[in-house]
Amino acid sequence: MLKKNEEYVVNIIDNGFQGEGIAKLDGIPVFIPNSIKGEVVKIKILKVLSSHAFGKIIEITQKSTHRKEEDCETARLCGGCSLRHIDYDFTIDMKKISVENTVSKALGRKVEVDSVIKMESPYNYRNKLQYPVGVSEDGRAVMGVYAARTHKIIETKECKIQDKRSQDIANSIYEFVIDKNIPVYNEQTLTGSIRHIIIREGKKTNETMVTLVTNMQDIPKEKELVEFLTSKYPDIKTIAKNINNKNTNVILGDKTEIIYGDGYIYDFLGNKKFKISPLSFYQVNPVQTEKLYSKAVEYANLTGKETIFDLYCGIGTIGIFASDNVKKIYGIETIPEAIEDAKENAKINNIKNSEFFAGDVEKVLPELVKTRNLSADVVFIDPPRKGCDKVALDTLLQVLPSRIVYVSCNPATLARDLKYLEEQYNLEKVAICDMFPFTHHCEVVTCLELKN
Ligand SMILES: C[S@@+](CC[C@H](N)C(=O)[O-])C[C@H]1O[C@@H](n2cnc3c(N)ncnc32)[C@H](O)[C@@H]1O
Repeated sequence: MLKKNEEYVVNIIDNGFQGEGIAKLDGIPVFIPNSIKGEVVKIKILKVLSSHAFGKIIEITQKSTHRKEEDCETARLCGGCSLRHIDYDFTIDMKKISVENTVSKALGRKVEVDSVIKMESPYNYRNKLQYPVGVSEDGRAVMGVYAARTHKIIETKECKIQDKRSQDIANSIYEFVIDKNIPVYNEQTLTGSIRHIIIREGKKTNETMVTLVTNMQDIPKEKELVEFLTSKYPDIKTIAKNINNKNTNVILGDKTEIIYGDGYIYDFLGNKKFKISPLSFYQVNPVQTEKLYSKAVEYANLTGKETIFDLYCGIGTIGIFASDNVKKIYGIETIPEAIEDAKENAKINNIKNSEFFAGDVEKVLPELVKTRNLSADVVFIDPPRKGCDKVALDTLLQVLPSRIVYVSCNPATLARDLKYLEEQYNLEKVAICDMFPFTHHCEVVTCLELKN
């Protein structure tokens, strides 16, 4: 019987979904973060459950050739880049194998990934920095990232996946806060002001938007802070203040005020321009987003005659990206503000052949099919991690578009939904696009063709 605190030397036989190494002891899997398949490691057992256990590395007896020096001081603590200790090419191989195994298992046959889209330079790729600000155990104001599964803030002055200018601006805000003695949010006493700093970059336009989430209506020295930031960083086009005085883990509150500029920035994906407001969803890795959307459009095989559905459309990016080659776009998205952005984005790009609807796909799509007799030749689906609702899939099985291009950030729910659609569709192609290098997250694009 395995026991907590006991030490063992184990062979790592596989890597799991989150990149953790897996060994077998007493017939049950033991999950060991930061270990790599092929390694031999000395571990200490941390927790034993009936079907599995958790351990931590004490010593690596035999290193994988894919292990690399960690180039980040906080990676181990923050847990964001759970693959930081592995060479980049091998992280891609791991993601590919994991997607192939998951989809093959669901469909009961061998499925291979046809196309792998790596990042040429997998550093500083994010266009959105989001740092909590709070009080440390010794009473100091701190800014950084949360330690994995906790609310302890790890001070972060440099993060390898953040945009360098965003990091610089965040550091300047932090220094201003310390210099001017501005009280930061204290989670214990629910007092103080700044609780989050959010910085978004239009990487193609060089426009920057800063959002300061505050517990108090007025940030002390607010005007001075705005003057300081806009004179030091002329690319800051807008600064927003979001008021969140609730005792909650949710980052943004209900009220947002623009304290500098127009309240938005622009960015380009391909030749299409997008307006980004403080609350808009926008993919965080724009370099890879262009590649992801290009692959989706390639799979869609558009000729200009097609009517398309862009389901779970966010601010309309996939449909608008594809718009030069389609006859008509219908987009559906649950967040009303995102639909307003999608309509505005269509206008900015002079797209007249689009209609966007706010609401859940599983409600709006069947309604549109029934009341307006809508159908589509090609459907793009890009749902959240939980995948598609059955009603949405049933409606597609009724509409029967010639092609479905399914974009997913969760291979497990993708595989489940592919199995459901298999009744009428053949899975033709599978690509992975590395949107989140050095994290375990994996983005997949698949192309399904109507049978017969
Ligand atoms: C992975 S994002 C994709 C957004 C967009 N396609 C893009 O590439 O930026 C998933 C989107 O689905 C929306 N969503 C979640 N559940 C939904 C539902 N039941 N019906 C419609 N949209 C939903 C989310 O608000 C989010 O914008």
